[in-house]
Amino acid sequence: MTRLTHSEEETQAVARELAATLNAGDVVLLSGALGAGKTAFVRGLAVGLGVDPDEVSSPTFTLVHEYRSGRLTLYHADLYRLEKAATDDLGLEEMGATDGVLAIEWPDRLTHALPGAVTVDLEITGETTRRITVGG
Ligand SMILES: Nc1ncnc2c1ncn2[C@@H]1O[C@H](COP(=O)(O)OP(=O)(O)OP(=O)(O)O)[C@@H](O)[C@H]1O
Ligand SMILES: [Mg+2]
Repeated sequence: MTRLTHSEEETQAVARELAATLNAGDVVLLSGALGAGKTAFVRGLAVGLGVDPDEVSSPTFTLVHEYRSGRLTLYHADLYRLEKAATDDLGLEEMGATDGVLAIEWPDRLTHALPGAVTVDLEITGETTRRITVGG
């Protein structure tokens, strides 16, 4: 599925729709350049899962944030600052598996694939426009 959005709000709306289809154990891999809207998309996932989106920030020093107030726990990882090998130790694979949804920014840092993950690619097509492709 490919969608064009014209604002952060529209991007969050796409994410809310996706959130409605997610189940415990699902993994969402968010790819796209700096500022493409990956964190904005996670805020939309949060809304869709019933988590307060204001809780969602760009993880800086904490690699994985955990939001428990929704229908499913939302785990949010940002691997941007990590060397590839370092992601092995995070236990990401186990994290979403039981009670929640795991959203990962910069999944190209992962050393092995997470089978069955939903892929979300955000492409900057203009100052406020994005092409969002959801697959997997
Ligand atoms: N259509 C759009 N969809 C999403 N964000 C948009 C859109 N138009 C403009 N923006 C702006 O782009 C920025 C996206 O920032 P965001 O932090 O979500 O990006 P990111 O992909 O997480 O970046 P990073 O790689 O640094 O983590 C925000 O400032 C947002 O307001
Ligand atoms: Mg981000």
